[in-house]
Amino acid sequence: MRRKVSIIGAGNVGASAAERIVQRRLADVVMVDIVEGLPQGKALDLNEAGPVDGYDFRLTGSNGYAETKDSDVVVITSGLPRKPGMSRDDLLFKNFEIVKSVTEQVAKASPRATLIIVSNPLDAMAYTALKASGFPRERVLGMAGVLDSARMRFFIAEAMGVAVENTHAFVLGGHGDSMVPLPRYSTVSGIPITELLPKDTIDAIVQRTRDGGIEVVNLLKTGSAYYAPATSVVQMVQSILLDEHKILPCAVYLQGEYGYRDVYLGVPVRLGAGGMEKVIEIRLQPDEKAALDKSAAAVRELIVKLKV
Ligand code: LAC
Repeated sequence: MRRKVSIIGAGNVGASAAERIVQRRLADVVMVDIVEGLPQGKALDLNEAGPVDGYDFRLTGSNGYAETKDSDVVVITSGLPRKPGMSRDDLLFKNFEIVKSVTEQVAKASPRATLIIVSNPLDAMAYTALKASGFPRERVLGMAGVLDSARMRFFIAEAMGVAVENTHAFVLGGHGDSMVPLPRYSTVSGIPITELLPKDTIDAIVQRTRDGGIEVVNLLKTGSAYYAPATSVVQMVQSILLDEHKILPCAVYLQGEYGYRDVYLGVPVRLGAGGMEKVIEIRLQPDEKAALDKSAAAVRELIVKLKV
């Protein structure tokens, strides 16, 4: 049977993710947006690309949730993006209302779906979706770590003059200014970058990774990044739909792992058919744990403000 992925929010991230999902022949896609004609127009345009690209998966656009019924995965991108000068946290209250109401409708239509949250501030919005859906934590994930790691990998590849394929990067924590890139676990062909690059270069890579989102916002001026966010979403969707058991950094609700409870934080997890199968715990050095504590505290501060 055909699999079904619904994408809520037919903006740039949503539409780019939809395009990649059908191009990779993963699933039929339903795009939902409040703007009349927008999801329908993008779905039709993508359907018309099918004969050229050779995919026969169907896209449907809708302004309601009936078409999303019984989705396997639902990606929630709804909400406002940042403008220059804004932090992700500045979006908190507006996007809370949007994500809460979207999640309630999504959960009703697709009670067995795995949810992937993309709206910012990411960790607080994933928390909102967990509470609004009533789903188990295994099926409510936030997309951030794949994106942040991808950015770090690109910067490592550029600094070393090597293929991106040879790089691996490890970013923990919240998807905010206090995220925790871990150079010790970031490698080129298995060799930690701490053995390969001078400290000031590594420090610059870490800072550029933290600022990865705003760097693109400042260039675009009218929106935030979408190609890298969309492909990161699709890697998670694929690991779930194809039951790949890939280990990917995702925002998940922690229940004691890494010493945290009742908070969403980016950690490596194994993703398969049921969503999050396992949190992978790695040993951290005191300075790394201190940075993660700071990041967890920043996420918790937002969650407390929401009073969900
Ligand atoms: C970014 C936004 C999507 O990091 O959070 O680009």
